Amino acid sequence: MPLALLLPQVEVVCVDLKQYSLDLLHKRVDGVQLTSKKDDIVDSIQVSTTLPNLSTYYGSIQSYPHEFDIGVSLHACGEASDLVLRKCLNQKASFVVCSCCCGKLQSDAKNPYVFQSTGGNEKEISYPQSKKMIASLEKEAEEDMNESDNSHNNPSKKKQQEIAFDEIAKASDYSEIGDIRKPKNACRRAAKALVEWDRLLYSKECIECSVSHETPVNVILSRMVPWECSVKNDILIGWFEDLCNPYRTQSQNNTISIPDDTSCDNDFKVALNHLFGNDTVSPGSTINTQNDWTTQEEKEVTSEIEQFLVKSSVSQEYRFSKGMGARKRKLIHSVAEKLSLKHWSEGKGAEKLVVVARRRTSSQVDININNKT
Ligand SMILES: C[S@@+](CC[C@H](N)C(=O)[O-])C[C@H]1O[C@@H](n2cnc3c(N)ncnc32)[C@H](O)[C@@H]1O
Repeated sequence: MPLALLLPQVEVVCVDLKQYSLDLLHKRVDGVQLTSKKDDIVDSIQVSTTLPNLSTYYGSIQSYPHEFDIGVSLHACGEASDLVLRKCLNQKASFVVCSCCCGKLQSDAKNPYVFQSTGGNEKEISYPQSKKMIASLEKEAEEDMNESDNSHNNPSKKKQQEIAFDEIAKASDYSEIGDIRKPKNACRRAAKALVEWDRLLYSKECIECSVSHETPVNVILSRMVPWECSVKNDILIGWFEDLCNPYRTQSQNNTISIPDDTSCDNDFKVALNHLFGNDTVSPGSTINTQNDWTTQEEKEVTSEIEQFLVKSSVSQEYRFSKGMGARKRKLIHSVAEKLSLKHWSEGKGAEKLVVVARRRTSSQVDININNKT
């Protein structure tokens, strides 16, 4: 509705496979709800009676049959954003895609919106989409398989890739607005940026394969400003013709100038440092305060250490299991530090584990434990 109001020379068509959403739009704009029955209007256009340049199309993005110049999608959930992208790429239309709920991209995740509207819920797209992301996850899967002792039990490369992408999609689906700028959220933002980069790369590869190289697509990943506009604030902007470049400046004789968006790079740096940077912690060193573990996870580690402290003598050490991952090891270091214990890492790669033990003077630990009980 705002687009149709602000751009009266542009014809705006809202597409949704949920009739209720379109009814709501007509009610807001025209003051009346659609009178037609659901089945009568499937795959049809309904023009607003108040804003002649606004209409609705009840049906799926995939089935929309008309040509268009720009595709705009706001929070089209799960793969719906990718269906918009593909529709635009096929038509060589510019696009502004702000995606939503990336958790629904996981291989076994369902989409309630689609289910409610169609009764079906099978994904049309498999992830990751881009050759570059597939190659990168394949390489990682191969390295994991080489490191693993029981390679005969390993899932196939395709499955491993899927598992890795599922993890990224899951991590990228966050919704706490309060955490949006905090360093601990950088990992989630970085995961979301990876999902968006897969889309970006796919768009470029898809065009390179299907259309002549004379018309490459330009795509950038940007964010809403301020970020707090929405937790789902990443936006992919794409265009084919220089004239459609939203960053072109008339004042510089149409010289194209795309501003650098360094926020994603920063997120990657913070996230990498957070996940892998400071894992080898020497006894007594201070753990930095960037964390993304839950209270429950912290409680579980604390309880495991406390059980050891109750049963063990002063000189004993407690070894956590191997293969916990850098994030969990960092949590153990942090809890051990809080309990005034010694803590260090042992081993390398898959063999790496965390050891905790009392400090030489155990009184401080005893006080901490007694205070808790
Ligand atoms: C999270 S809602 C966002 C709606 C709206 N853009 C907003 O910001 O309030 C996602 C919408 O996408 C619609 N949707 C999902 N898959 C679709 C598809 N394949 N074709 C058309 N609409 C779809 C759903 O019916 C739902 O109304």
